[in-house]
Amino acid sequence: MRLFTFLVLESLLSPVTLTGCFVWLLWGTAVSQQQSLSFTALSPLFCRWLLHLQGMRPDPAADSLMKTLPSLNPAANWAVVWPTLWAMNISGYTPNLFNLPRAGKENLGNMINTRTLFFDRALTQYIETVEQVVVLGAGFDTRLLKFCYGKKLSLFEVDRPEMQRVKQQALKESGQPTDGIHFVPVNFNEENWIERLKAAGFLPGKKTFFLWEGVTYYLTEAIVVESLRAMGEVCSVGSEIAFDFFPQHFLKGQAPEGQAFWWMPLATNVLDWIGEPFRFGVDTQTGNREAIAQLLSHSAFQLRELQMMGTGKPSSIEPLSRSSSRQGSGFCGLVIAEIMGTET
Ligand SMILES: C[S@@+](CC[C@H](N)C(=O)[O-])C[C@H]1O[C@@H](n2cnc3c(N)ncnc32)[C@H](O)[C@@H]1O
Repeated sequence: MRLFTFLVLESLLSPVTLTGCFVWLLWGTAVSQQQSLSFTALSPLFCRWLLHLQGMRPDPAADSLMKTLPSLNPAANWAVVWPTLWAMNISGYTPNLFNLPRAGKENLGNMINTRTLFFDRALTQYIETVEQVVVLGAGFDTRLLKFCYGKKLSLFEVDRPEMQRVKQQALKESGQPTDGIHFVPVNFNEENWIERLKAAGFLPGKKTFFLWEGVTYYLTEAIVVESLRAMGEVCSVGSEIAFDFFPQHFLKGQAPEGQAFWWMPLATNVLDWIGEPFRFGVDTQTGNREAIAQLLSHSAFQLRELQMMGTGKPSSIEPLSRSSSRQGSGFCGLVIAEIMGTET
């Protein structure tokens, strides 16, 4: 009955939603292309905004950015979400995109919700023990303002110069403070970003938390490996990194255990077209945990936690596989790794 009421209300307001989606996409892609901004960075911001609107994860800075970023149209934002929020309120039914999925039951509609809360937990878990926080490929993430601002921490955001210019301007327009954050403009593919980070005030040898959300798949494998190595080299025992990855088989449109992401090649073409191609997937043929341990073996980090989304199984902890021929399941992995050892 709830679903029925929801569908009736959604159908009645579907012209508003569909027009909103059309304008949102057109506006977002046009302005992003024109100003060399990341279009894909709008998606996690949008999901965090939805969590904010539903009272599940307050994020006033994300709410402000939704109004002031040039690649977003506030009227279209509301046309996309308002009919659904209204239908949800009246019917009591929550659709996938607005859900917090159970562990293992994620799908592509709600995976960013799981991802957001995973990285929130990773950051808040270590925030009291580190001295520096670095958000790599920060996009329109507002975690430094939400969790770190006003604490005794050195804060850094790293992204392409165009992204940082627009984000800083949008935050300023909405009255959000940014004066304690060091914005480090770099292109990971083109320069030694660790040197740029140091030049911006990052202190080598300090305990650091690196957040690398939604970025690894846009870089080449060589850059991912070299970045992990360089991060491990530049900070002390007790430092952490949290990042996510896609398995190679998912990027190819396949998944073990019968799930076929047949539309993935189409999505890949769209990403190529908007200039944000997927470049890197982890080869998980021998198992997820082994593959990540192998990736980290080039660095000082050791795997602490791995959560695979979309495994279909209730457990969120990824076990060591028994057979070396076992293809890891799930379509996206969330990782926390740490430099372990005795602190001096
Ligand atoms: C999908 S967005 C994720 C943004 C943010 N981490 C979040 O979760 O909201 C990917 C981000 O990585 C940045 N990025 C991708 N390739 C990059 C590169 N080569 N150099 C610097 N930043 C890059 C993009 O500009 C964008 O902000």
